[in-house]
Amino acid sequence: MPTPETEDLRTVRVELGSRSYDILIGDGLIDTAGKRIAAIAPGARTAIVADETVYALHGRRLAASLDAAGIGHVSITVPPGESSKCFAELERVTLALIDAHIERGDIVIALGGGVAGDLAGFAAAITRRGVRFVQIPTSLLAQVDSSIGGKTGIDTHHGKNLVGAFHQPSLVLADTGLLDTLPERQFRAGYAEVAKYGLLGDRNFFGWLEKNAAAMFAGDATARAKAIETSCLAKARIVAEDELENGVRALLNLGHTFGHAFEAATGYGDRLLHGEAISIGMALAFEYSVMHGDCASEDADRAIAHFANVGLPVSLSQIPGELPDGDGLLDLMTQDKKMQRGTMTLILAHAIGDAYVARNVDMPTLAAFLKRKRN
Ligand code: GLY
Repeated sequence: MPTPETEDLRTVRVELGSRSYDILIGDGLIDTAGKRIAAIAPGARTAIVADETVYALHGRRLAASLDAAGIGHVSITVPPGESSKCFAELERVTLALIDAHIERGDIVIALGGGVAGDLAGFAAAITRRGVRFVQIPTSLLAQVDSSIGGKTGIDTHHGKNLVGAFHQPSLVLADTGLLDTLPERQFRAGYAEVAKYGLLGDRNFFGWLEKNAAAMFAGDATARAKAIETSCLAKARIVAEDELENGVRALLNLGHTFGHAFEAATGYGDRLLHGEAISIGMALAFEYSVMHGDCASEDADRAIAHFANVGLPVSLSQIPGELPDGDGLLDLMTQDKKMQRGTMTLILAHAIGDAYVARNVDMPTLAAFLKRKRN
């Protein structure tokens, strides 16, 4: 098994003053979790929060690494899937942390994809008014996006991530070897977030992805590590500039206002994964930008062609089952956290690599656009 000390270990620093932390990227990092946690929190005990599937796959390796470093641990598992990001599971996890006497100086370990990270991070944020936590993301989506930047939370029936807190992790260990057990559909959905960084601010990276996506999907470790590192660098830079999303961080929501509405419409399940929803959302954001006269149609076509080439959905007609009509979708979009006094903000694009925040979106125009796309 490769040891990240001697092989390809990459480090990205998230600069947030006293809350700064490292994202480590490399194969086999999970086996070093114990000593790395001991280094940042000497004497701490830990609680591993994971979904049952991920715990069965990787929990034993993590526990062995903690044992080797003499770190005490309990484990708390939740059912797999987005439906665990709910008040009931939050209550269960939080009470289990208190039952286990996890104290402020201890460490909650979020082991898993976006669901485990968001739920465990939020439980850590509110238990005893804040316990430190470490992210060990096991999905591509979590390694490039959700484990970084401190957004934690749960969903309500109104929409995604509507209850939560900013709570930065103390360390992120992105073990690229763990992606080998990820189902291809999940890898592809996570890839949408990787491509997002190219579309929103890095045209060269998008070009690199067009050439290297096939290698990434085929399991090329170097291509995967480079894409993850580039994504983490982009996210770390944006989070350092705007931790609480008062400005530039909103760019990370390219495709998300559309996408969150489609997820709400499809019940946050297997019917449409988050990455698939934002793939359609990004396609629509580019098409809307073209319609608005902001973006050349060649760029929208190129973005959409790349998503289609890697097998991501790019239109509403690719979502299986019934969907609300255009007005219904618009209504779901108005639950977006970027709404301000009834006006909507969308992330649109001037070009590939040049996204911008569009405030005061004209609602009748958006309604007509959605109606057209829905038919
Ligand atoms: N996933 C978007 C953000 O962290 O801001």
